[in-house]
Amino acid sequence: MAEILAAGEKVKIKFSEKEFSFPAIIGTEGERAVDISELRAQTSHITYDPGYANTGACLSSITFIDGEKGILRYRGIPIEQLAERSTFVETSHLLIHGKLPTQKELSQFSQKLTEHAPLHEDVKKIFSGIPKETHPMATLSGMVSFLSGFYPTSLDPKQDEAQINESAAQLISKVRTIAAYIYRKSVGESFVPPNDTYSYCANFLHMMFSGRKEKYILNEEAVKALNLLLILHADHEQNCSASTVRLVGSSRTNLFASIAAGICALWGPLHGGANQEVMEMLEQIHTSGKGIEDYIRMATEPKSQLRLFGFGHRVYKTYDPRAKVIKDACYRLIEKFGVNDPLLEIALKLERAALKNEFFITRHLYPNVDFYSGIIYKILGIPTNMFTVMFAIGRLPGWIAHWKEMRDFKPARIGRPRQIYTGRLKTDYVPIEARTGT
Ligand code: SDX
Repeated sequence: MAEILAAGEKVKIKFSEKEFSFPAIIGTEGERAVDISELRAQTSHITYDPGYANTGACLSSITFIDGEKGILRYRGIPIEQLAERSTFVETSHLLIHGKLPTQKELSQFSQKLTEHAPLHEDVKKIFSGIPKETHPMATLSGMVSFLSGFYPTSLDPKQDEAQINESAAQLISKVRTIAAYIYRKSVGESFVPPNDTYSYCANFLHMMFSGRKEKYILNEEAVKALNLLLILHADHEQNCSASTVRLVGSSRTNLFASIAAGICALWGPLHGGANQEVMEMLEQIHTSGKGIEDYIRMATEPKSQLRLFGFGHRVYKTYDPRAKVIKDACYRLIEKFGVNDPLLEIALKLERAALKNEFFITRHLYPNVDFYSGIIYKILGIPTNMFTVMFAIGRLPGWIAHWKEMRDFKPARIGRPRQIYTGRLKTDYVPIEARTGT
């Protein structure tokens, strides 16, 4: 068994009496890692860490999470302050460009997003060929990949910073328009073109809900709530989808293709797809009349595949700070909009029951970002099958920031993990006539 002794800047590892030393890496917040870049060359061993729970894939200055203390900061700024005082466009600039924008920079960035809001007529034509029942995440990923066809210069692996920033603005703006068009197509309504006098979030709500018999009145509270949700979803360091964007981008493919891959990773019910699962779970509890305790019991039975969606996290072993902010916003919005949603009551009861349950306590399972977000999306009129698309709109600046950081890192290497082979030893080909068995 290897014995690891951390000694100053070096970490010593002993394999069968031979001692090796590797550099220790200590981050700005005191996180520690062993740099094992030379492990295989020196010891002929690789590491094995399914799910990468103990493996750092990169150095990053974008987002800091302390899972034990429930801390989340974008470029050093606590998300509670950004949620309270920033907008999604400003936070996007912070993540992508590494700093809060000056007034001039913010105006220029907002202007870019306004310019890029409309979709090319040919993009709209693609919608006509997509089956109405297609899941919005499938359409979103496909459409984002298609966008590169309208921006051929974005395919150049040697593209410069200015071109990448242009692609970033195109994506942030057009993903919002595409999302609204996906919704409009799903309800059989015509597209509503963007209105360039509206702010980013107001324009999204306008494209989603205007153009109907009953005039849609833009509500400042709804715009604020949408900004809040998108800010809270904007990045989360090396989560499954951000790591996907970095890995796919490491082959030097274009930003649109890398983001399309990130959208597919986010879609999964264990990741961003959980917000849709939570809402469906709450609705199922509401309609089935099954008690909360029944559900908790089922979610804790090893043989049942059931999970309490919106609970648990690979990094947070305490309350997800985003869930706290969203939960408070639920109360505020329910009061402001005068809605009485029984699902919030069910969610609160589920949370209370789970946080008292031994299974959840011993595994440090708390509400995560997905547990309450659907309550707000529902108040805004967004249908459940669009919830993960909303997550993708929010996460886009984070994905772009990670893609850029990966591209700027030297040495630039394609991501290619190793494995330990456990299959057959060498065996010969057997002609089909000689094969036996069923
Ligand atoms: C997001 O990584 C990120 O940062 C993601 C994210 C982001 O912003 O990008 O925060 C967004 O994806 C949030 C998570 C959304 N997913 C869900 O809400 C789905 C439900 N949660 C889980 O499936 C789970 O908690 C994960 C996927 C979030 C984390 O999985 P891990 O870290 O691999 O943990 P695990 O599956 O190994 O679980 C450890 C134990 C197991 O029990 P034992 O084998 O020890 O008996 O906890 C149990 C699990 O069965 N468990 C749950 C549970 N979550 C974990 N049991 C019931 N319900 C749950 N929700």
